[in-house]
Amino acid sequence: MNIQWYPGHMTKAKRAMQEDIKLIDLIIELVDARVPMGSRNPDIDELGKGKARLVLLNKADMADEHYTDRWAEYFKAQGCHVVKVNSRSGAGLKQINSVVQEACKEKIERDRKRGILNRPVRAMVVGIPNVGKSTFINSFAGKACAKTGNKPGVTKGNQWIRLSKTLELLDTPGILWPRFEDQQAGLKLAFIGSINDEILQKDELAAELILFLWKSYPDAVKKRYQIDREMTVEGIGEAYQVLEEIARVRGCLTKGSGLDTGKAAALLLDDFRSGKLGRITLEFPEEEKKKEA
Ligand code: G4P
Repeated sequence: MNIQWYPGHMTKAKRAMQEDIKLIDLIIELVDARVPMGSRNPDIDELGKGKARLVLLNKADMADEHYTDRWAEYFKAQGCHVVKVNSRSGAGLKQINSVVQEACKEKIERDRKRGILNRPVRAMVVGIPNVGKSTFINSFAGKACAKTGNKPGVTKGNQWIRLSKTLELLDTPGILWPRFEDQQAGLKLAFIGSINDEILQKDELAAELILFLWKSYPDAVKKRYQIDREMTVEGIGEAYQVLEEIARVRGCLTKGSGLDTGKAAALLLDDFRSGKLGRITLEFPEEEKKKEA
């Protein structure tokens, strides 16, 4: 499967991000807890050099809790502070303030030595499209947030949201590009619906998802669609057979009474994306460590 990316204004976005980053102390990077590496921007380490870093494992409600904890350890080992959150419900958000203070304690101490007291930490939210940036800012900042006026140097239109005496947030998130050179990561972003479905064949995508699930969460598909017969799925051809089985069980038929695998594929992807197959993580820290070794 060849996933095409259209980075478009990537260079421009990168330049804008570099300018914004100069204004802040802390980068709040949102990643999808189900695909923590694939939903990460490949250049963020370089862009964020010298800044305090907070990684939010967002959509933690959709991911396998065991692996979310493992990923949290992984990012901590890389020198980032980490919080697991569900921006939709607000779960986990309360911890953020104290973690931010901890992440920026060197800056706070530096300020104190210079006689600057109570200067709020300035942060910006960054992440690839659909990772939950707007949802997070809305939940975290809430309705009560007071915006301070435009400050010189801030990208036109950007404003600071004063969250508390100790934290100000740039009100517009930084949109980053995903790792478009990595086909596996692209596939996983497609599973979660972060890539426009129109550029991918739904059947093919669903079959790839079945292949993954059969290996890593063997009961998820069988349980949801009550597939009783033994099916071995070791290759994409067998995954298509499962798709046919789903079509059969769910009565997805074409006008000529053949099996409508397109409909079954859409059903599976919708079910997966709305959490009906359970809490599922699509990539695992051990694989990442292997790649690094
Ligand atoms: P973005 O600014 O980074 O592009 O992402 P945005 O906030 O628009 O969020 C993208 C989708 O992800 C939204 O769903 C949003 O509700 C959902 N979302 C964000 N954070 C979480 C989370 O922690 N858990 C879960 N389960 N979902 C989350 P949508 O279907 O596109 O919109 P809507 O139905 O919520 O309006």
